[in-house]
Amino acid sequence: MTTPLPGAQVTRIGGMAGKNGAIKLVAGNSNPALAQGIADHLKTSLAKAVVRRFADMEIFVEIQENVRGADCFVVQSTSYPANDHLMELLIIMDALRRSSARRITAVVPYFGYARQDRKPGPRTPISAKLVANLITRAGADRVMTLDLHAGQIQGFFDIPTDNLYASPLMVRDIKERFQLDNVMVVSPDVGGVARARGLAKRINAPLAIIDKRRERAGESEVMNVIGEVAGHTCMLVDDIVDSGGTLVNAADALLAQGAKDVYAYISHGVLSGGAVGRIAKSRLKELVITDSIEPTKELLATPNIRLLPIAGLIGEAIERTASEESVSSLFD
Ligand code: R5P
Repeated sequence: MTTPLPGAQVTRIGGMAGKNGAIKLVAGNSNPALAQGIADHLKTSLAKAVVRRFADMEIFVEIQENVRGADCFVVQSTSYPANDHLMELLIIMDALRRSSARRITAVVPYFGYARQDRKPGPRTPISAKLVANLITRAGADRVMTLDLHAGQIQGFFDIPTDNLYASPLMVRDIKERFQLDNVMVVSPDVGGVARARGLAKRINAPLAIIDKRRERAGESEVMNVIGEVAGHTCMLVDDIVDSGGTLVNAADALLAQGAKDVYAYISHGVLSGGAVGRIAKSRLKELVITDSIEPTKELLATPNIRLLPIAGLIGEAIERTASEESVSSLFD
């Protein structure tokens, strides 16, 4: 007994053929709108496949067209519910591999489990490496992802991995909307300095850093702002907003130091639990995120959260991969 999953679909790049045979774009259920946007960008027609659930929720995938010899791109973010979406990705790739696809690229706009990229203590896993192994073993020949939590996760894969960047989209948006001579880019923590510095360089803006410290166990964290932010329009830059705590506290700390107003440009809107409400009530003027993760209705109705679409960027990278052209030159 099986039931179709709502929104399950497989798309095809109609009429397109890259250097590695016909191109097929396959979408899991994590972000159908993004997959459709990528297909639209590539001027494709959609074809169907079925992702079914058995009564016990096991996933079953059936590709309903010939993929023999095709260059297949599977679009699936491993976002909430991460384990279901990861498993769907693995099973779709298994189905493609067993159907004689010539090449399979796992297109994972949001790569979940990336924050578990080292052992924080003894007897703990490195889940990012485990997930990389699973994706490879399931049949991926290549991986395409966006703004990995840490660039070195690329090295967890022994297959070619393209890490795309949302920064060109962010830079364009900032240039269109702000008076650049008053903008200051801010890293909300010391770990994100390289990312924030990269964006600051592109818009020729100064950089500030927030250093979070807990002086003594049990005491609340102190946010030290390193840099003269007074009078500036501050842009917090990070890869992930999850609970929203980092951003909300950073905005308060910057405003306390005299910042004019605070915006945030974040690649992945994980936004777990009550994060959207927390952002809505915060002193952040606006949070700008990409649509690497499917937005909820609540998010879409929140006035101070805005989406930057990435379908064009991913579509372009897919087109270049299929025709063996440079992907990195997209970011020159
Ligand atoms: C941490 O290393 C990440 O770059 C983000 O700063 C973090 O995941 C944000 O988490 P939250 O929104 O829960 O404070």
